[in-house]
Amino acid sequence: MTNQTLQLIASRRSHRSYLPQQITQEQLEALKTAALQSPSAMDRQPWHFSFVQDRALLDHVTQAARKRAEQLAEQDRSPRFLSPDFDLFYHAPTVVFLSTQGGGSAIDCGIAAHSLALAAESLGLGSVIVGLARLAFESEDQVELEKALNFPEGNRFVISIAIGMPDDDKAPHELHPEKISQIG
Ligand SMILES: Cc1cc2nc3c(=O)[nH]c(=O)nc-3n(C[C@H](O)[C@H](O)[C@H](O)COP(=O)(O)O)c2cc1C
Repeated sequence: MTNQTLQLIASRRSHRSYLPQQITQEQLEALKTAALQSPSAMDRQPWHFSFVQDRALLDHVTQAARKRAEQLAEQDRSPRFLSPDFDLFYHAPTVVFLSTQGGGSAIDCGIAAHSLALAAESLGLGSVIVGLARLAFESEDQVELEKALNFPEGNRFVISIAIGMPDDDKAPHELHPEKISQIG
């Protein structure tokens, strides 16, 4: 059985190369609406979405994450930082940072990130969820970045998602049906 939604879920994958062209204003507005339409526990909507199209700021986040990564023991460091040109967001022109006050709301943010990923896919765009950006918020630049990203007072970074026109062709990830149990 299939339908448009199931096809969308099946076609979504993480893209790690993007064309420089920016997403359209219409696409941007559709993404913002999709983000706000996500479900959350008790409808608390505990998130803040910072949509960023400022290349210098995105580069600052990558540099801060790199500085933090370099302080970590080698086994704790993502091998992606081995490349001096590594861009946390793979040069995607739009990145959304999700922040919240903490507690259990990280799950709500995770669900919203997937809403954004599916919305991007439906608009003919690609995306990749980027958790590694958390390193930037563990760096000495944390406060400066939180301010530049307009996080509300007391909000902390949860997850980010990079969005743009994909310039790669990645296969879908392998499925493991043994991870499903059916009872009854
Ligand atoms: C919570 C979370 C954090 C992730 N962080 C990163 C990241 O920092 N960098 C990256 O390249 N991919 C990241 N990914 C993407 C995963 O690597 C990717 O979803 C996984 O390999 C499956 O591939 P697919 O998305 O193409 O199906 C993240 C995904 C999730 C859900």
